Amino acid sequence: MDPLIAKAMLRPYNLAHDEIVSLLALEDTAELFSAAYELKCRQVGKVVALRGLIELGNHCAKNCYYCGIRRGNPNVRRYRLSEDDALRMARWSFEQGYGSVVLQSGEIESDENTEYIGRIVKRIHDFGGDDFGITLCLGEQTEEVYRFWREAGAHRYLLRIESSVPELYAKLHPADHSYARRVECLRALKRLGYQTGSGVMCGLPGQTLDDLANDIEFYHDMDLDMIGMGPYLPHKDTPLGSDIEITPEYAANQLKLGLKMIAVTRLYLHDVNIAATTVLQALDDRGREQGLLAGANVMMPNVTDTEYRENYQLYENKPCLEENSTKCRNCLNWRVLAIGEKINWGQRGDSPHCKTFPDSNKGKKS
Ligand code: 5AD
Ligand code: SF4
Ligand code: FES
Repeated sequence: MDPLIAKAMLRPYNLAHDEIVSLLALEDTAELFSAAYELKCRQVGKVVALRGLIELGNHCAKNCYYCGIRRGNPNVRRYRLSEDDALRMARWSFEQGYGSVVLQSGEIESDENTEYIGRIVKRIHDFGGDDFGITLCLGEQTEEVYRFWREAGAHRYLLRIESSVPELYAKLHPADHSYARRVECLRALKRLGYQTGSGVMCGLPGQTLDDLANDIEFYHDMDLDMIGMGPYLPHKDTPLGSDIEITPEYAANQLKLGLKMIAVTRLYLHDVNIAATTVLQALDDRGREQGLLAGANVMMPNVTDTEYRENYQLYENKPCLEENSTKCRNCLNWRVLAIGEKINWGQRGDSPHCKTFPDSNKGKKS
C-alpha cells in the first residue's frame, strides 16, 4: 500500500499539508478510494443515511458569481413553498423511512422568513419527535435567529464555506459577501450545539490542490461534524460559468476531483458524515454510487414536488428534474443495494464525530 495512505489510515489528522496535496494529486485512484471506503465501513458500517431534501424556495439576497439562482439572474421563476406543502413533503419523508429532512433555500434575512421557518421546524418536530432529524441549510443569519430555530427543534445546520482560502472566496463573490462573517456563523452554530456541516466546491477556476488541502484542514480546525462538497458545475446565466463549456473531458475531470476530495477528507478526518452530493450524479449517472465507494455515507434525495425543481438549478444538468419523489426513492434503494450497501431506514444517521452529542432537542421543546 502507498505509505501515505497507510499513514492516514492509522489515525485521524495524521497527514501534513504537503501529504494531503500529494494524495489529491494521485492519478491512479483505486487504492485511495478503497482505503477511504474501508475507513467509512469501520466508522459506520455498510450503511447509507438518507435525508429528504426540501427546496423551500429560490429567493436569494445574494449574488454569488457561480450560482444559478443568484439574485441577479432574471431568468429564474421565483417561488416559495406554502407551510402546508413543506409539511406534506416532510411528512412523506418521515413515513417513507427517511431518518431526517433538510430544509434548504436561498439566503433571506427577515423576521417574516425567520418565523416562517420557525413554524415549519416546530410542526415537523411535533410529528417527528427527537428521532427524526431536522437539518437547516438557509445561509448566514444572526446568532439569535440560529438560536430561535434551534429551540424550535432543528439540530443540524449546513453552511458551506465554498472555499476556505479568503483570496479565492473574494474572487467568487461580490465585495459585500464576507468570508469573515461566514466563519463567524459557523462558530455561532457550534456554540448553539448544532451538529455543524460545511464544505466547498472543487474544480473552481483558479483553484489549486494547495487550496483544496487547505479546505480539508479547515474542516478539522473548525471541528465540523458533516461535510457536503461537490465539483463546481458551470451555469450559463452566471458571471463565472457563462464562458465555460462542459465537454466530456471537463466533466470527467470534475468528477474525479470531487471523488478524490471525498476520499482524502475521509482519510484525514475519519469520523465525519460525508455526503455523496447530487452534483456527482449530474456528471455521471453512477456518480453518487462512486462517491459512496470513495468514502461518503450520506445521500440527500430530493423530495420537493417536481413542478418546483426546474426553478432550483444552482448548476445546469441537475438530475431528477422529472422524476418524482417515489421514483427517486426506489431508484436510490436499488442503487445502494447494487453496491452492496443498505439504507438505514428510519434512523437519524448522526455523524459519528458527535457520538457524545447530547440528545439533540430533549428539553428544548417550546
Ligand atoms: N456548481 C456546483 N455547486 C454549486 N453550488 C452553487 N452553485 C453551484 C455550481 N454552479 C453549491 C454551493 C452552495 C450549495 C447549496 O450549492 O456550494 O453552498
Ligand atoms: Fe444564494 Fe446560496 Fe446561490 Fe449564493 S450559492 S446565490 S447564497 S442560493
Ligand atoms: Fe431520482 Fe434516480 S434518484 S431517479
